[in-house]
Amino acid sequence: MNRIFSGVQPTGNLHLGNYLGAVRNWVTLQNDYECVFCIVDMHAITLWQDPAALKAHTREVAAAMLAAGVDAKKHILFNQSQNPDHAQLAWIFNCVARIGWLNRMTQFKDKAGKNRENASVGLYAYPNLMSADILVYKATHVPVGEDQKQHLELARDTAQKFNSDYGVEFFPLPEPLILGSATRVMSLRDGAKKMSKSDESDYSRINMTDDADTISLKLKKAKTDPLPLPDSVEGLEGRPEAANLLDIWAALSDGTRAAAIERFAGRQFSEFKKELTDLAVAVLGPINSEMKRYLADPAAIDAVLKSGAERARALSAPILAEAENLVGFLRP
Ligand code: TYM
Repeated sequence: MNRIFSGVQPTGNLHLGNYLGAVRNWVTLQNDYECVFCIVDMHAITLWQDPAALKAHTREVAAAMLAAGVDAKKHILFNQSQNPDHAQLAWIFNCVARIGWLNRMTQFKDKAGKNRENASVGLYAYPNLMSADILVYKATHVPVGEDQKQHLELARDTAQKFNSDYGVEFFPLPEPLILGSATRVMSLRDGAKKMSKSDESDYSRINMTDDADTISLKLKKAKTDPLPLPDSVEGLEGRPEAANLLDIWAALSDGTRAAAIERFAGRQFSEFKKELTDLAVAVLGPINSEMKRYLADPAAIDAVLKSGAERARALSAPILAEAENLVGFLRP
């Protein structure tokens, strides 16, 4: 059986990178897979979060997912801390994964910065919790943006080592699904930097909560270069900002980079940006109003998350129990 697991951190509101790299694909995949979608609040606190803001962002991210088309009735949507099975399996994985593997994780190096001694232990062990998120459901496929590829490789290595340590083919080796034309959306201010919730400039990203005027202003200010748009993929060499905006166009129109290049070849950025703004507003506008509708009733969001967590736990409990049995934990 094919089962999907994927997650997003409630460290702020979702941005266009989260939407195009992940959530938009989740919505499509719902037709073909059984899906478990998770708002990973336990991951979020690996860097300190204001407690009230964390709760608010958890609801906002849930609202964004529902508004984008996540079907929480047919599938499962919940916040991670409501299912303690993730943490339980993560401890076993802390004992399976090797320190050398974690030392190679580029995301830890980026997030810990220069003062690594001062990073939280949780930030370091984060990839093991992520492996547990996936494997506690024996998920087979994980739709993510490109930045999560290394974590997924670690999850596969951990599944494989667990299976070999305990002499059984217990966990599947989960496959990353990196889909669409915008698997790594870059900052609007710097084509060399990933679009991210933590960038201090709000002009670097389009948030799912941005209204039409804000989207228009941010795209107007988005960094470009002085040349007209190229007429071939090769013409994008050394032009990261042009490549990024064309990829955003391609993803929003469900097309390809090649089709975007063909359409805008030789045109000025000013014209292209106008069309891109119209497309972004057409796609994000309805999601934005739906989100507001959901957020007007926080109790209803909480009920969705609670029901999701109960159904999630019903899936994970027998898998965790079997893993604990394999490890040798006595359960009289
Ligand atoms: P997070 O919260 O950083 O991002 C959520 C999803 O959005 C994708 N993404 C992007 N895609 C394209 N361009 C971007 N600029 C961009 N920024 C983010 C991410 O790849 C991700 O798919 N560790 C994960 C959360 C997580 C998880 C999991 C994911 C925890 N457990 C288990 C999958 C399975 C994270 O920090 O995502």
